[in-house]
Amino acid sequence: MNEADDFVWWKHGIICEIWPRSFYDSNGDGSGDLQGIIRKLDYLAELGIDGIWLGPVNKSPMVDSGYDVADYRSVDPIYGTMADFEQLLAEAHKRKIHIIMDLVVNHTSDQHAWFKESRSSRDNPKRDWYIWHDGKKGRPPSNWKALVGGGVWQWDKATKQYYLHSFLKTQPDLNWRNPAVRQEIYDTMRYWLDKGVDGFRCDILNYFLKDNQWRDNPTSLSAGIFNGFQKHLYSRSQPGMEEILRQMRAVLDGYKDRMMVGEVFVAQDGPAMAAAYMGDGDLCHLSFEFSLLFTKWDAKRFMDVINGWYAVLPAKGWPCNVLSNHDQPRAVTRYAAGADTQKRARVMAAFLLTLRGTPFLYYGEEIGMPDSPIKRSDVMDTIGKMYWPIVKGRDAERNPMQWDTGTFAGFSTVKPWLPLNADFSTVNVEVQDKDPLSVLNFYRRLITLRRAQPALHKGDFELIESDKDVVAYRRTYQGIEIIVILNFASSVRQHKIDAGMPWKVLLGTHRDSGSPVDKGAMAVYPYEVIVLGA
Ligand code: GLC
Repeated sequence: MNEADDFVWWKHGIICEIWPRSFYDSNGDGSGDLQGIIRKLDYLAELGIDGIWLGPVNKSPMVDSGYDVADYRSVDPIYGTMADFEQLLAEAHKRKIHIIMDLVVNHTSDQHAWFKESRSSRDNPKRDWYIWHDGKKGRPPSNWKALVGGGVWQWDKATKQYYLHSFLKTQPDLNWRNPAVRQEIYDTMRYWLDKGVDGFRCDILNYFLKDNQWRDNPTSLSAGIFNGFQKHLYSRSQPGMEEILRQMRAVLDGYKDRMMVGEVFVAQDGPAMAAAYMGDGDLCHLSFEFSLLFTKWDAKRFMDVINGWYAVLPAKGWPCNVLSNHDQPRAVTRYAAGADTQKRARVMAAFLLTLRGTPFLYYGEEIGMPDSPIKRSDVMDTIGKMYWPIVKGRDAERNPMQWDTGTFAGFSTVKPWLPLNADFSTVNVEVQDKDPLSVLNFYRRLITLRRAQPALHKGDFELIESDKDVVAYRRTYQGIEIIVILNFASSVRQHKIDAGMPWKVLLGTHRDSGSPVDKGAMAVYPYEVIVLGA
């Protein structure tokens, strides 16, 4: 590929999140593994992605599916060995695919050796690696609520103090005010960077620091149940993070071409907070803005989210965009519309892949794969176990990849660890590969176009029109213009092409590539995608 020198993989390329346990099972135990990902690298290379964000693979008791790490410098045996990991890195790099690891360092597992030491006595040298506190008149030190419900403080009988956990009580928070903790985490980053890892997806960055006066959060009904009906004024998103981000960035900048993408979750200030974690492009390289995961199917609302995001970006910041991940129902499930679902999948694909900003795909998104229906007996996610049936957990969207029409969708030779979706006989890679009109081939065409057109991967963005059904925008780079028109509706809509160019279709769902489109009013077909160029 004749790529311009200024092509930056994490900025101009495309990243795919892979849930390691669900991508491909190489050893017939029903669970995906690192060797499984290696076997599917050619598929990913052909899809045209530049990076994989690998869900957590460190040793873990899996109470939070690996987001509870017991050893940061290890690989959990369910995924394979360190040698497998190194092989994955080497094989990915051969194919110009970068590897981003999950860095989950707000908390550890309570099975981590550090926590075992820390809780063993009040004067243990690791005591201050976690957040221990006396009670306040027989009550916990503050009223703060954990993201998963209940309070953040857990009483420890042996040492008669509370420790803090922002998530499950088996996930004690590290004390980021302790310089020794910081040093150890930065060394851990170097450990993986030295192996050749290309970057980190940093779990819930905005939880690292807490108010050190332990002030109570104000009650707020409008904050909703997932915030424990309180405004997290003192327990999340505290000042001081910039220094930590700068230190993390300095670690990365000691290497060539590495990056970090921050998860800033349930931010009180929405996109502005996510943007703040990028500094002026000198803190996090990227930061997730999750609003689209909670937006209704409505072209104007989608566009409002994106405009809101672009408006708060720092001058040297760069957006990334995401429709699905391992914590929320997949977009095709959220926006399911019976027979029209796969048509909507194409509109979503075109939206994500023609916006300004790095697209993050979630494995299976490229075949329009929906969630799997989950029964109580299937539940693996602790959140689902705790709150079924009110909250069913996140297993549905962490479902096995659908590769072919085989008994277990080609994912495994035995019953997979989570259920497959019954639709796998049609929604799978093998079938879609052969169908030129499939969602998979539509993604491939879009990815090829995005890559070939600098206007799409690095150009400016200008909104032309958005109402609840149709959105149209222009991408421009060095005088080259591309226009994208998307119809979110199931019926025909009108759009007027004002610009005077002799436009032709670069890619579309209803028109042949190369066909001319005249200036003036045009009919846009139901769920039509049109990408126009000169
Ligand atoms: C992040 C992860 C989520 C995990 C939580 C606690 O939000 O995406 O899956 O449960 O952090 O680590």
